Amino acid sequence: MNEYNKRREFLKSTGKVAGFGIFAAAFSSVINSCEQDELPPKPPSGLSFQVDLNTHPELLAIGGFKVLTIDKLNGGDPVIIKHNPDDTFMVIDGLCRHQNCNLEMPSDPNGNMVCMCHHAVFSLVDGKVLDNKGFSTAADLTHYKTEYNSSNKILTITS
Ligand code: FES
Repeated sequence: MNEYNKRREFLKSTGKVAGFGIFAAAFSSVINSCEQDELPPKPPSGLSFQVDLNTHPELLAIGGFKVLTIDKLNGGDPVIIKHNPDDTFMVIDGLCRHQNCNLEMPSDPNGNMVCMCHHAVFSLVDGKVLDNKGFSTAADLTHYKTEYNSSNKILTITS
């Protein structure tokens, strides 16, 4: 093998190693970014928030539900408010916490919500995860305490 061919062989083998290295680094960063996006639910803050249901009439009827963003409740992320059959209210985290994705809402108050990113399934009856599609952080949705004053229709939510 002459000097030209030796140099050529050297460059070809070096290129293969470098190419594999670039692929391995890119693949590794994709895997790592998926894992790093998995965030636990936010811890409770102890703050209270009042919602005047006169301005959200769909929540006055039993079975009514709505996605709302209320000041700093849930860290500023949306919550789902539902008027339960026993005339209490359920307020739950409005995001799937696998990677903080929005939930597609059902038309039926007893139906299921589906994560728009990886399709984990949650119950709108109690906020429990029914199928996390293998993503362990797509767990039950965080519940907030509620108190309802039916005379003035003010719902107090405590985080
Ligand atoms: S964001 Fe992945 S299952 Fe919801």
